[in-house]
Amino acid sequence: MFDLKKRHSFALPACANHVDVIHAPDDVRKIIWQDDSYILGAGSNTVFTSDFEGHLIVNRLLGSSIVELDDGYKVSLAAGENWHHWVARLIDQGIFGFENLALIPGSVGAAPVQNIGAYGVEVAKFIESVEGVDLRTGTAFQFTNKECNFGYRDSVFKRAEYASFLITSVEFYLPKAWQPCLEYPDLKDLPTDASAIQVFDHVVAVRQRKLPDPMVIPNAGSFFKNPVITSDEFRRIKQRHPDIRYFETADGQFKLAAGWLIEQCGLKSLRIGGAGVHQRQALVLVNSNQATGRDLTELAHQVRKQVAQRFGVWLEPEVRMLDNRGLLTL
Ligand code: FAD
Ligand code: EPU
Repeated sequence: MFDLKKRHSFALPACANHVDVIHAPDDVRKIIWQDDSYILGAGSNTVFTSDFEGHLIVNRLLGSSIVELDDGYKVSLAAGENWHHWVARLIDQGIFGFENLALIPGSVGAAPVQNIGAYGVEVAKFIESVEGVDLRTGTAFQFTNKECNFGYRDSVFKRAEYASFLITSVEFYLPKAWQPCLEYPDLKDLPTDASAIQVFDHVVAVRQRKLPDPMVIPNAGSFFKNPVITSDEFRRIKQRHPDIRYFETADGQFKLAAGWLIEQCGLKSLRIGGAGVHQRQALVLVNSNQATGRDLTELAHQVRKQVAQRFGVWLEPEVRMLDNRGLLTL
């Protein structure tokens, strides 16, 4: 019996019986993919709402290499490496670029899946290629950055037809020519010539202030994505809610701050059983007191419904929710 409570950061009570853990490349060859298989990294974007009756494949592949080139560094990391550990370690070695992405929990292999992003930077900016094995056929793959089709919290790896694509390593390129990225509102207080270490320390401090530590209050980060809407839809909403918080995207659409939408619905104090909306960051749902999967799904339904009723926008989950059979849609 495999206790899933300790294997996902939302820490709901759940178990799995059929689990394969991959520690070495040889283990990959032994995996037999089934229709109910699910690949798990560190579990910080996956929520088990009940016991999982499918086949769980847990990736723990470790390894790294750094090659210095004239103008930058090629950094290759195995998928089971810890993301934040490498952000800190590369900065210590004078290799900069990842600092805005400090303190994001989870594994390197999951980073391309939803194209992790924070404080104005997305990991796609540094990814050269993603390597792995299609567990259904046993065929190796190597996708270029373009082939990964990265978007906001999105990549090909989130599509159902790529569910069996196990990422085994990610190759990054970090140029030596470096400038701090300070456009995100939370970074505006930093000097324009801030060092990578200053940016790293600042991002860590902001995150520690705003986001609950999953080791203390279990959670999965932003539960929903920030909804991206067209300029027509945006004009309609802005007319009725002039102080709405948003970002304009590069392609002329509008990304609404879902935390603001949830807060405006008066949901910051909403609790269902042991699950609740976080007091400081309404986009984060938390397991504040031994929540069950049912508490959480009911809470997520309530939040979505009330935001849709007030703003006419349906929030889409960022997290992967699973029940006993597999992926759940809200
Ligand atoms: P898991 O939850 O194990 O898996 C996530 C997805 O990736 C699943 O679909 C899984 O099937 C797939 N996957 C995992 N490993 C592999 C693999 N080797 N091959 C193929 N598919 C794989 N995210 C952000 O983008 N920005 C943030 O600022 C951020 N802040 C967070 C703060 C907190 C407190 C928490 C708890 C989460 C936060 N997240 C954030 C979400 C989370 O950290 C990221 O999504 C992270 O990349 C998840 O890594 P993981 O290994 O835990 O993934
Ligand atoms: N806001 C509120 N009330 C809230 C929460 C936020 O009014 O309860 C407002 C803030 O005041 C701000 C705006 O909403 O004006 C945006 O808030 P914040 O900067 O905290 O970021 P976010 O949009 O809520 C996104 C990511 C985070 C990432 C931060 C920083 C998504 C879904 N979430 O959150 O990623 O760390 O920006 O870049 O895009 C995650 O993906 O798990 C995650 C934590």
